[in-house]
Amino acid sequence: MSAKVVTIRNKADFEKLNLPSETLAKGGLVAFPTETVYGLGANALSDDAVKKIFAAKGRPSDNPLIVHVAKKEDVYRLVETVTPEAEKIISHLCPGPITFILNKSELVPDVVTAGGKTVAIRIPENEIARALIEKSGVPVAAPSANVSGRPSPTTAEHVIEDLKDRVDFIIDGGPCKVGLESTVIDLTVKPPNILRPGGVSQEMLSNLLGEVSGYEPDGNDANAPKSPGMKYKHYAPKAKMTVFMGKNCRATIRAYIENLPKENLFVLTAGETEYKGATAVSLGETAEEYAKNLFFALRQADNDGAKVILAELPFSGGGIVTALKNRIFKSCGGNVILCE
Ligand code: TXA
Ligand code: MG
Repeated sequence: MSAKVVTIRNKADFEKLNLPSETLAKGGLVAFPTETVYGLGANALSDDAVKKIFAAKGRPSDNPLIVHVAKKEDVYRLVETVTPEAEKIISHLCPGPITFILNKSELVPDVVTAGGKTVAIRIPENEIARALIEKSGVPVAAPSANVSGRPSPTTAEHVIEDLKDRVDFIIDGGPCKVGLESTVIDLTVKPPNILRPGGVSQEMLSNLLGEVSGYEPDGNDANAPKSPGMKYKHYAPKAKMTVFMGKNCRATIRAYIENLPKENLFVLTAGETEYKGATAVSLGETAEEYAKNLFFALRQADNDGAKVILAELPFSGGGIVTALKNRIFKSCGGNVILCE
């Protein structure tokens, strides 16, 4: 099988989604853009279709999938009850980069939830994603559209790189706006618990819901994994990667690379910094830009033959910085040097 690539650039192109959405409903695999990362979609109500996702990605079957729907009304039949917290999230933060976990209804197959009693639900903001799901007429189970372990895809080219021969359609909607996956919050516990930080911050959630327990990243990422997916090796480039965190990261990197061979040495920078002899790649000056470009840059460095990747991480504070730290610490396997 070789995927058909369908390019969508405006609403007039949406009719090109008709065939992919039919294929989805009938049990095929369709990769599609969301505002976070590209997803690998299958009909969430079909056991056989969902099994194809695990096979295509090489994903362990004990890692549950997020079910994507186009609108609020479509949430009800998938869950036991929409709790008051879920109502608030749906009204104030959806569609958007947030996934909430509730007790599942009988309609949701065990293969989606890895045998668990709960289901993760997301209403993506990306209009192409919602049009595709709406046209398919079914809820769509979708993990990130990468081979397990690799950085999540933020362009259609990344999906082509990883999955071209394993899916029916790849919808190209251009680069993703956020670039990191959605925030995952478990609403089946009290207080609600953030399992994965993402585009919606803990602050936004506690403003809305009151007390929320959060995810505290540390340099070793030694927190016990709460979301099944968080225990696996993730987002890793092929090159050996080290993150330099804190306001003195640039000076520390300069000293660190003085005696290193510069060939195949890449430095990911927060703004235009130069490192003589090495390849410096700016991800942008703000944490938002840096987050948006991180997975793109990791894949690009691999494709350009990087053997060693060093990353400046001068940002502090919460919001997207929390999500950024979580992902970049995983990318480098916990290889973090503090440069305060
Ligand atoms: O932004 C996103 O969330 C993207 C786009 C495509 O929507 N999707 C995504 O899916 O990142 P995935 O499968 O790569 O990550 C989903 C995470 C995993 O860590 C998984 O373990 C967790 O959500 N998860 C899914 N269902 C769960 C459940 N019922 N209980 C606890 N964790 C769950
Ligand atoms: Mg993923």
